Amino acid sequence: MNLIPSLFSLHGQVAIVTGAGKGIGRACALALAQAGADVALAARTQADLDAVAADIRALGRRAITVAGDVSDEAALDTLVARTVAELGKINILVNNAGGAGPNSPLKMGGAEFSAVLAWNVTPAYLLIQKTAQAMREAGGGAVVNISSVAARYAQKHFSAYGAAKAALNQMTRNLAQDFGPAVRINAIEPGTIMTDALAPFLTPERKERMVASTPMARLGQPEDIAAAALFLVSPASSWITGKILGVDGGVEAPNF
Ligand SMILES: NC(=O)c1ccc[n+]([C@@H]2O[C@H](COP(=O)([O-])OP(=O)(O)OC[C@H]3O[C@@H](n4cnc5c(N)ncnc54)[C@H](OP(=O)(O)O)[C@@H]3O)[C@@H](O)[C@H]2O)c1
Repeated sequence: MNLIPSLFSLHGQVAIVTGAGKGIGRACALALAQAGADVALAARTQADLDAVAADIRALGRRAITVAGDVSDEAALDTLVARTVAELGKINILVNNAGGAGPNSPLKMGGAEFSAVLAWNVTPAYLLIQKTAQAMREAGGGAVVNISSVAARYAQKHFSAYGAAKAALNQMTRNLAQDFGPAVRINAIEPGTIMTDALAPFLTPERKERMVASTPMARLGQPEDIAAAALFLVSPASSWITGKILGVDGGVEAPNF
């Protein structure tokens, strides 16, 4: 028997991916579907979700779209309920929706700062809480939280985003203690990934500088993160939980 391909197979499994309309979330959803999973796609823009769902159905997998804001707890309840009702169970959760640009610590007020913390941490916490029972009933599950290298770099203008992703990392480590052995919970720290979220900040000069300071001599693609996410939700990583995986081209210091 050829064991290795089966370790990366998600055949018969059901996944939820948030922020699945574009960028890293889209790439994760497609990778999980290519590995055999049916996928519930969540984001706010229905047209983006429809396009990703069509790509997944073309692969022969099932896809449902659940448009909503992850900051709205009722939308998370709907996402979980519809996934179980329409796809039958939940094995995998990718908490990808999140983000924030650079902030000025002299200008950003408390409400805005709190909003960055809330958006990047609380939906992931709630979705893990709300899917854990379904995962247990499905015989076990795996969660990947999409964090950022900003969680571990000390750099100017990232006090809000860096704090939020550092909190997401520590929540990942602690929840892995709470929910094992039935549910594994890990996080990925992407380096700079070429997505729409990055585009407004990426001048040609800045890109050249960043590539020059990246050991792997290129910026990341969404598929680089999707491949790591596939590993962390597949049986290949069945003895890994509560860990933070850097997928960053080898960058060890801020280069933004
Ligand atoms: N790109 C990078 O260099 C990089 C680096 C490190 C970490 N990350 C992390 O990777 C994750 C994805 O980033 P990305 O670059 O792929 O972003 P992106 O290309 O802008 O895609 C973000 C996706 O999330 C959805 N989304 C945004 N806000 C949402 C909300 N409130 N509720 C539900 N869905 C929402 C967006 O769709 P709608 O707007 O239609 O909702 C979109 O589908 C984020 O957590 C980010 O912090 C990115």
